[in-house]
Amino acid sequence: MSANINLPRILRIGAGVSRLLPEVLDELGLKDPLLISDDFIVSLGWLDNLEAQLNEKGFTHNRFTGVVPDPTTDAIAAGLTVLKQGQHDCVVALGGGSSIDTAKAIAAMANRDQAIRCYKVPQTLDDGLPIIAIPTTAGTGSEATRAAVITDTETQEKMLCMGLGLMPVAALVDFELTMTMPLRLTADTGIDSLCHALEAYVSRHANPFTDTIALASMAAIAKHLRTACQEPDNREAREAMMLAATQGGIAFSNASVTLIHGMSRPIGALFHVPHGMSNAMLLPDITAWSISGAPARYACCARTMQFANSSDSDEVANQKLIIALRQLCSDLQVPTPASFGISKAQWQQAIPTMAQQALGSGSPANNPLIPNAEQITALYDTVWGN
Ligand SMILES: [Fe+2]
Repeated sequence: MSANINLPRILRIGAGVSRLLPEVLDELGLKDPLLISDDFIVSLGWLDNLEAQLNEKGFTHNRFTGVVPDPTTDAIAAGLTVLKQGQHDCVVALGGGSSIDTAKAIAAMANRDQAIRCYKVPQTLDDGLPIIAIPTTAGTGSEATRAAVITDTETQEKMLCMGLGLMPVAALVDFELTMTMPLRLTADTGIDSLCHALEAYVSRHANPFTDTIALASMAAIAKHLRTACQEPDNREAREAMMLAATQGGIAFSNASVTLIHGMSRPIGALFHVPHGMSNAMLLPDITAWSISGAPARYACCARTMQFANSSDSDEVANQKLIIALRQLCSDLQVPTPASFGISKAQWQQAIPTMAQQALGSGSPANNPLIPNAEQITALYDTVWGN
């Protein structure tokens, strides 16, 4: 086995750990963070709380709250302007994947002159200011990945950026911050995590380290996601989902995502479908198409999530996997592209661009069955038809 594993230096996991920011900054020798968040987190008073903790311990700090959903190059530029007004030695993200990815891009671009589009995959961003991530959703796993997805304001492309400069140095994973997540966000981010775990496990870059983490993540999500949606105050389900999200991030960051994420990013970029929701639209059909590339691996996923029994053949287990994924999406009221409000003409017109962007991201090449442009085009047609 040969695997290259990258992780945050510090992972604090559990109830209340988001209150440990001053301690963690001290541990890392950092003194002047730029806090990065969005208006919703500000309205909850959580950013004020964080700043009060920093004031109590005598830290200098400032805030940038211009994070937008599906972070854009324009928002990154605005954040960099605020960063350069101070002497900040690190960035702290408080929020969901959009806040964390914005913080990552600001940190990595702090000392670079070229536009961030010059650094999208296959280029890398290997250095930058230290990043501390405090996730408030159980979903993207961005707190433990060396990836960020930034939408180019000029081209509307969702650019995948990768590199060690995007890996948080510390992550404070506090499930209590997710207790107020609304149903739709809980469902979408939870399915995003499931895709991370499933795709990491079947990826051509899977390895024994990521396999165990991916399986643990998908088992927990299959067991707890519906409960987290139906009973938002259920601490056991929220705690399990939060850990599973971070595990999903660790798994895919070290094994890569595959075809679902590759085809999902263009849907999000062109039609503004939330990231987890566009993954969910694709999950059953793309999995069904991909199974023949790694039937034993997919069957293991089906059994791990208890969609199939240990006595089921791989073929039967994989049939049950697709049925269970369709049922999960139905239970969580995942829309089709049509019911989301996209017209068939818009979808058809976008397919060549979406197929090109999907292939360009490199993610489809990690899939157990590698599609060409025609096959991706046909898959976008299939997804529309269901
Ligand atoms: Fe994702």
